[in-house]
Amino acid sequence: MTQAHHRKRLIAGNWKMFKTPSETEAFIRALSEKLHGMAQPLSTWPEILVCPPFISLKLAWDTVDDTGKPILIGAQTMDSHEDGAFTGEISPKMLRSVCIRNVLVGHSERRQYFNETDETVSAKTRAALANDIRPIVCVGETLAEREAGQTDTVLTRQVNTALNGVSAEEMAFLVVAYEPVWAIGTGKVCDAAEANRVCHLIRTLIAGLTNSPTADQVRILYGGSVKPENFPELLTQSDIDGGLVGGASLDVDSFYQLISQAAYFSEGAIHGCRI
Ligand code: PGA
Repeated sequence: MTQAHHRKRLIAGNWKMFKTPSETEAFIRALSEKLHGMAQPLSTWPEILVCPPFISLKLAWDTVDDTGKPILIGAQTMDSHEDGAFTGEISPKMLRSVCIRNVLVGHSERRQYFNETDETVSAKTRAALANDIRPIVCVGETLAEREAGQTDTVLTRQVNTALNGVSAEEMAFLVVAYEPVWAIGTGKVCDAAEANRVCHLIRTLIAGLTNSPTADQVRILYGGSVKPENFPELLTQSDIDGGLVGGASLDVDSFYQLISQAAYFSEGAIHGCRI
């Protein structure tokens, strides 16, 4: 018997730089077909979020609209400015114009390859919230930081900077993803108990920034080599509310399997959400 989990689960697929618009449409139609046959009642389904590249966002949204299935579409990043001379960037206003209300912020690949810092992550988080777009704020330590015993210090700095100045109401709306950098795309998943310990630390930090009842509502995801083989153990942890999934979200069968595992472990999940 599974333990009741009071926060609604969220399964988010981060497609990174994979899939063309036509592949995106085919994936969403195939996923919708599978959801149509899902055995578990709708009330247990996790929120399902797919984050394709910018070029596919509108088509993805239109396809979901056509299939009528509860799939949310999000961007993988965005700029923090409203508009301006920022060649190649996409603003929150532009995302809103194509009905996008979710965005990944501060993914470790953005930090590593595109020089995003805790400060830019904070600016993007605030810009998303100001535009009523839900940020999924990514944090996590590198292997060197973990081996040097700095995991908690790094997470404390990242969370306190990224979420500084966020109101309690905004905090309850956003999502945090704990993604240890050494577990992303490596096949090395973090031990479930350790992932839960860090997610609990993040919740405690959020309580310090706001208050305990608010922190109790915030969804915290684990990300890093999530697969159907390791996800059930992660889902039984008290402070892990779902997954941010890269590789396993590109294949419709494995992504669907993760969704149905989350539904199975969601008995008693009742906490609602604005989207
Ligand atoms: P992965 O990626 O599941 O392929 O490890 C996770 C992520 O980058 O969000």
